[in-house]
Amino acid sequence: MHYLITGGTGFIGTALTASLTTRGHRVTVLTRQQRPAQGQVSYIDDLAALPADTVIDSIVNLAGASLAGARWTAAYKQTIIDSRLQTTRRVVELIQRLEQKPPVLLSASAIGYYGHHGDEVLDEEGAVAQGFSHDLCRQWESAARAAEDEGVRICLLRLGVVLDAGGGALQEMSRPFRFGVANWLGDGRQWLSWVHREDVVSAIRFLDERTDLRGAFNITAPEPVTSRGFCAALQQHYRTWLAAPVPAPVMRLLVGDMAQELLLQGQRVVPARLQDAGFTFAYPGLDRALQAIYQK
Ligand SMILES: NC(=O)c1ccc[n+]([C@@H]2O[C@H](COP(=O)([O-])OP(=O)(O)OC[C@H]3O[C@@H](n4cnc5c(N)ncnc54)[C@H](OP(=O)(O)O)[C@@H]3O)[C@@H](O)[C@H]2O)c1
Repeated sequence: MHYLITGGTGFIGTALTASLTTRGHRVTVLTRQQRPAQGQVSYIDDLAALPADTVIDSIVNLAGASLAGARWTAAYKQTIIDSRLQTTRRVVELIQRLEQKPPVLLSASAIGYYGHHGDEVLDEEGAVAQGFSHDLCRQWESAARAAEDEGVRICLLRLGVVLDAGGGALQEMSRPFRFGVANWLGDGRQWLSWVHREDVVSAIRFLDERTDLRGAFNITAPEPVTSRGFCAALQQHYRTWLAAPVPAPVMRLLVGDMAQELLLQGQRVVPARLQDAGFTFAYPGLDRALQAIYQK
């Protein structure tokens, strides 16, 4: 099969690409970098490079400027939005142009879609709360849904905080632990809906293969934790001599608006639709996930 992955060079994309090529599939990656083709993977920097008679079996849309890449100034927020909406719109334009339509578009979104919620458990029907993250995800999902007009099946990947070795959120979150300091953020009661990267890749492959599934799917482990619970789980893997919160005002001072939406507020999300469809998580609980990650 031939896959097109936007953002295929990123934390999720590299793992997905590796998983697909191991199974003998061919992958085209859209990237802003100049890279030579390698084995079954080729790289393009413009979707216009794909002729109209290209046959693509599946598109996975992951590209977007990192939410934690810089302070959330008005200009950076615009970069976060534009990088996702422009790429997604170009993907839809490509689909419109292709003579043979790809059967499925699996397009990234995030659990930020739901906005800030307290202890309420959120499945895909969960209520939304307004804010930058909700606004971003709503527009991003709606841009992807435009491909439905071309008869393409759409799966929206509402991703939680993806954990694995060698990058992503865990690298940042574990930094103080490496210096012996166990910390949680703010009052530590906010929920953190995490997921192991291997489960993300499996879930994407599952949704790709299950042609009866469409719409939004929470891609989070079935057992979310609070920030304090996350801290306690990480402490099993580091020798720490101090356990202390990073107070909310300090977080706001350090990282501005981003602290409020991404770190001090959270949401308790469950993967209801994936589980109803029969998907099994290799890492439903955080302890086992961290054990696997730290054994690598
Ligand atoms: N990882 C998570 O915890 C998580 C959680 C929720 C949602 N998500 C979403 O899932 C997607 C993939 O996540 P990830 O962790 O793999 O992200 P990532 O490692 O940051 O990779 C995203 C890719 O997007 C491309 N990109 C970066 N800035 C861009 C820009 N300004 N314009 C166009 N493309 C740009 C980059 O590819 P090139 O440099 O090759 O162009 C990069 O490899 C992201 O959209 C992210 O928002 C991730």
